[in-house]
Amino acid sequence: MSLFTILFAVILLGNINCETDCSFNNLEKSLNLSSLPLDERPVSNWKNVCTVYLDFILYTIVELDMNQQAITTYIWFYMNWRNELVSWDSNKFCGITKVFLPSSYFWKPDLYVYEMTESDSKAPLILYYSLETDGTIANSMPFRIVSTCNLDLYRFPFDIQTCSMTFRSYLYTVKELVMLAMADSSKVLKNSREVFVSKGDWDLLDITVRNDTYGFLDDAYSVVVYEITIKRAPVIYIINLIVPAVFLVILDICSMFIQAYEERLVFKINVVLGFSVLLLILNNMLPTSDSLPMLGIFCCVCMAMMILSIIGTIFSDYILDQSANPEHVSPWLKILVLKYMARVLCFRRTLYSEEITKNGTMDKEPKTKATGEVQMRKDVQEKDSLEVKLLKRLLLEILKIHERLTLSRSEENAKAEWFMVAKVIDRLILILYLLTVITVFIILIYAWAK
Ligand SMILES: *[C@@H]1O[C@H](CO)[C@@H](O)[C@H](O)[C@H]1NC(C)=O
Ligand SMILES: *[C@@H]1O[C@H](CO)[C@@H](O)[C@H](O)[C@H]1NC(C)=O
Repeated sequence: MSLFTILFAVILLGNINCETDCSFNNLEKSLNLSSLPLDERPVSNWKNVCTVYLDFILYTIVELDMNQQAITTYIWFYMNWRNELVSWDSNKFCGITKVFLPSSYFWKPDLYVYEMTESDSKAPLILYYSLETDGTIANSMPFRIVSTCNLDLYRFPFDIQTCSMTFRSYLYTVKELVMLAMADSSKVLKNSREVFVSKGDWDLLDITVRNDTYGFLDDAYSVVVYEITIKRAPVIYIINLIVPAVFLVILDICSMFIQAYEERLVFKINVVLGFSVLLLILNNMLPTSDSLPMLGIFCCVCMAMMILSIIGTIFSDYILDQSANPEHVSPWLKILVLKYMARVLCFRRTLYSEEITKNGTMDKEPKTKATGEVQMRKDVQEKDSLEVKLLKRLLLEILKIHERLTLSRSEENAKAEWFMVAKVIDRLILILYLLTVITVFIILIYAWAK
């Protein structure tokens, strides 16, 4: 009797077990998954449009390559669509509403990013998709995207870049497949802000999302566009590039106050060498794009001014060398440089030029006087007594000395003139240099502040 009841109970239990197999395995078996079509869109009627919903969280900016104009982003990507050919009643399967199944069972939309230039090979592969009772299949995966981004480097390193990622299907037109963003801009931005990891070089400013359709070769394709706006952290460029460049320019301007031209030349060449190293670094960083960065223009102008000031110094040195031969500065140069230029450049001793010209006319007078004396001396030579003769001889000697003195003085004057010309030209170069650098500085700061 007891044996019979036990037997009965076992049979009953077995029956119950059979009716309510709550394993995923049971569900999978009954879904007959291997019979699902893999090649065609999973729609019950071919005219049905398959709708794919996308979501997006920006995790980090891995790299922004300025030379290649490529941005590498790491995103957490989610998409779902409905497979109309598979569904189940969760009540019949112990309330199972969701299963995870290998991706190989399903048809997948051929997702493609317009701007992508490299295929994603480094992201981990997530092989399982989730399937819900109504046939909604969801796929959530990390995505590493290398995409092109048109960089505007005019305000580098204070630039803000906007890169877009356009998700679309490569094959299906808008009549077959529609892509829609699940979340709007503010939600995507909020989610991304929560997880965004920055290496310190880029700050996330904004993300905008857009549902759109693109016409392409007579067909329209449904797309979802994510636009990421990021801002560069400029500190490292300020420390490594801008501050040294500005200091070198200031140093070069200061070197204009070294009075010995040869020493100044050596100094300036060294500064130019240092500056060209900076230019090399900058050149390595910046792409050869058509929109030149302001910083590049600034460096170019500074370099040009440095070299021009070197040429100016060589010129001044050459003029100074002219003072070695005792010729006077030619009158037109004297008037141009010593009279007008010196006045314009606020030389304190503008009178100096007049003094020089006075001396210049004066140094002919003693000569005529001396020849007059000599003539007179010859006339009365015979009649004079010995003392007078002696006195006259003395006078002659004195006159000779005077003559030599005035000659050397005029030589000295000529030297001083050349010296002044060199000084005036040197100051002209300094002032031009200063004006150019200040102008470029102002333009640069204006461009950055805009
Ligand atoms: C599963 O699919 C096969 C082939 O398509 C079919 O013969 C079989 O009846 C299906 N089974 C169920 C339970 O639908
Ligand atoms: C895109 O379309 C979907 C569905 O109509 C909508 O929920 C979503 O808000 C839209 N997104 C944007 C950014 O317009």
